[in-house]
Amino acid sequence: MRSKRSRLDQFVAQKLQISKKAVRQLLLENRVELDGEICKAVDKQINEFSHIRFDDTWLQQRNREYYMLNKPVGVVSATIDDIHPTALSLLKGVNSELMHIAGRLDLNSTGLLLITNDSQWSQALMAPETKVDKQYLVTLANPIDESYEKAFADGMYFGYEDITTKPAKFELVTEFQARVTLQEGKYHQIKRMFGRFRNPVVELHRESIGTILLDKHLKPGEYRHLDNKEICMK
Ligand code: URA
Repeated sequence: MRSKRSRLDQFVAQKLQISKKAVRQLLLENRVELDGEICKAVDKQINEFSHIRFDDTWLQQRNREYYMLNKPVGVVSATIDDIHPTALSLLKGVNSELMHIAGRLDLNSTGLLLITNDSQWSQALMAPETKVDKQYLVTLANPIDESYEKAFADGMYFGYEDITTKPAKFELVTEFQARVTLQEGKYHQIKRMFGRFRNPVVELHRESIGTILLDKHLKPGEYRHLDNKEICMK
């Protein structure tokens, strides 16, 4: 999804159902405001977050929104689902039609889920070139040891997609828990990686994406706005 850019005159003409010539006249009469300033330029580029006013009427006034949710088990990372509640449905009073998830989690995974209406931001964050670390705390059915570390660092070949996973970090936390850091997100990646050791994942919890840490005050199902530092993460 790219940011939806268009020209101011086209946008106003379509909103008011008038010709572009009529829009030009409105602009000359100082009746159109773009982001708080009178605008006379017909060819001005706008996007879905430009604030546009005609006389006293807002034609567009949408703001960028960014949330972190502590995703509970049993909630699906999708916009709509016939069976399970969706992550977007947990955000009360938010127009979920305009929102999307940046980096999904499986139905039974928990933890940090980022939700936004800013597709440029989420694309930049999740693009493989950006190499943002995603950190997970993983609980396994069977004991683990340091021998997993090399296999995770070397990468594993997934025949179905014909890809080798990028080097991943494996840190032993306890006999049954590891902290895994990925810079990508292939389908069921962590479960499949532990699957190579015939060791089923019992719990999978995302703790962070880049410098954005899951807020410890958020109980499962709770969410909050990202602050400016989190939004501007590098
Ligand atoms: N890897 C998985 O297997 N599941 C997730 O939800 C995230 C990473």
